[in-house]
Amino acid sequence: MATLKGLILSGGKGTRLRPLTYTGAKQLVPVANKPVLFYAIEDLVEAGVTDIGIVVGDTREQVMAAVGDGSRFGARVTYIHQEQPLGLAHAVLVSEPFLGNSPFVMFLGDNFLLEGISGYVEEFRRGEADALVLLHRVPNPTEFGVAELVDGRLVRLIERPKEPPSDLVIVGIYMFRPVVFEAVHNIRPSWRGELEITDAIQFLIDRGHAVDYRVINGYWIDTGKKDDLLDANRVVLETLEPRVEGFVDGQSRLYGKVIVEKDAQIINSVVRGPAIIGERTKIINAYIGPFTSIYHDCLVERAEVEHSIVLEFSRIQDLDHRVADSLIGRYVEITRSPTKPKAYNLMLGDHSRVGVV
Ligand code: TTP
Repeated sequence: MATLKGLILSGGKGTRLRPLTYTGAKQLVPVANKPVLFYAIEDLVEAGVTDIGIVVGDTREQVMAAVGDGSRFGARVTYIHQEQPLGLAHAVLVSEPFLGNSPFVMFLGDNFLLEGISGYVEEFRRGEADALVLLHRVPNPTEFGVAELVDGRLVRLIERPKEPPSDLVIVGIYMFRPVVFEAVHNIRPSWRGELEITDAIQFLIDRGHAVDYRVINGYWIDTGKKDDLLDANRVVLETLEPRVEGFVDGQSRLYGKVIVEKDAQIINSVVRGPAIIGERTKIINAYIGPFTSIYHDCLVERAEVEHSIVLEFSRIQDLDHRVADSLIGRYVEITRSPTKPKAYNLMLGDHSRVGVV
C-alpha cells in the first residue's frame, strides 16, 4: 500500500474567534504556550505520518512562518492554498494533486485530541476500510455532526440535528482512501454554501463503501471558540511537568505545577499552578491563578489573572479586579486610565467583548 500522507486544515474563516481571527490564524493560538496546530503535526508524526500537506487560506503567511518546512517536527510540509474557505470537503478537493493515490489522515488544525492518534492510524493502515472516522460521546450533540448507528454500523451522519439519533459526534480527524475523491467531486454545496465532509462520507456509505468508526474515550475538543480553548488549555496544563528556566526572586512563591520559561521573571508575585509563564514575560507584584497561560514577551504588574490565555506582547497593569476566563490577544494593553473623569477608556476592535465588574 502507498504510504499514508497527512492533511491538516489550517484555513477557514474563524468567525467564532473574532476579533483574534481578524489578524491571526486561530490554529496558531497557543494552548499551554504551544500553537494548537503544532499538536496536530506532532500527533501525525508520532503516528508515522511525516509527508504532510497543510491547507492554508488568508492567514497562510503566519502559518508558514510558524511551521516552516516541518523539519523541526521531523516532517516534510507542503502548503496547499485554498483560495476561499468553501468547506472541509473542498479542502480535500484542492489537495488532490498533493494526495494523489495515497490514503491519508485528515486533521482539522483547530482540533485537539489528548491521547494521540497512533493506534487508530495503525488500524486503518492494516485494515481494509475506505474511511475510518472517530466518534466521541458528548452531552450536547445538536451542535455537531451526529452519527446514527444501526446494528453497530455507521449508516448516517447528520449535521446539527434538532433530534440527534445518538450522542456520538464526529471529531475532526478522519482517515480516507483515494475513493473519497469520487465523493468530493460529486457532492453539492450545502445550505451554507460549503462542501461538507459529512456529505462526502455519506456519499461513500450510500454507495456501499466501507466506512468504519472508532469511539474515542479520551479528551477531545474543537478549539474554535474561546471557552473551548480555555478548556483545552486547562487539560494540557494539568499534564505538564513543572520546570523553572527563568528567574524567580526570593519574595515570590510558586505553588503546584508551574512552568517558568526561559528568561521569564517572577518578581514579588504568587503563581498558583497549573500555569505557564512564557519567555521574556515579566510577572511583577502580581498573582497568576490556576489554568493560566501567559505567552511570550508579556507584562503582568499589580494585577491578577486566572483561568485565562494571554497572547504575546500584551500588558496587564494596575487592576483592582482579577482578570478571569479571558482570552487576550497580542499587543493588548489593559491598564488603569490616568485621565479624569473616572471612566472606562477603551480602544476595541470589531467583535471585541468586555465584561466589566
Ligand atoms: P471550522 O471551525 O468548521 O470553520 P471556520 O474555521 O471557518 O470557523 P468558524 O466556524 O468559527 O467561522 O473549520 C475547521 C478547521 O478546518 C479549521 O482549522 C479551519 C479549517 N478549514 C479550512 O481549512 N478550509 C475550509 O474551507 C474550512 C471551512 C475550514
